[in-house]
Amino acid sequence: MASILLLNGPNLNLLGQREPEVYGRDTLADIERRCRDQAERLGHELACRQSNSEGGMVDWLQQNAPGAQYLIINPGAYGHTSIALRDALLGLALPFVEVHLSNVHAREEFRRSFMLTDVAVGCISGLGAQGYLLALQFVAEQLREGR
Ligand code: DQA
Repeated sequence: MASILLLNGPNLNLLGQREPEVYGRDTLADIERRCRDQAERLGHELACRQSNSEGGMVDWLQQNAPGAQYLIINPGAYGHTSIALRDALLGLALPFVEVHLSNVHAREEFRRSFMLTDVAVGCISGLGAQGYLLALQFVAEQLREGR
């Protein structure tokens, strides 16, 4: 059994009510529950966290990365701006998959700069809540292969 982290960034606590035409109608609690259930089926443990602050995300990563094998992160807007998150992820050397509910490549120009994507194992963008489950499936496969 491996320990997988799921970290969601700013405003993702508002999922379900926040621009549902862009981000869907599932709440974060719905998504986390589905991910926990799937992780359990795959034989892994999933620790979930959401934070609206950059420092809160960095702190949680520093506290939880030791002992974890993989991270799935939707950094929200910080994915476009945060050197601090990038540094934390590089410093902790925890492999991660970046997830965005919306297709950030098909939106405003300012969403096309990426602070984390080039150091991620991969990125899923535009597949809605299903992106998290697909990321989890990929992570479980990686862990099975010992990566
Ligand atoms: C997001 C995309 C970001 O550009 C935005 O700032 C978010 C959500 C997504 O999941 O599609 O907060 O990460």
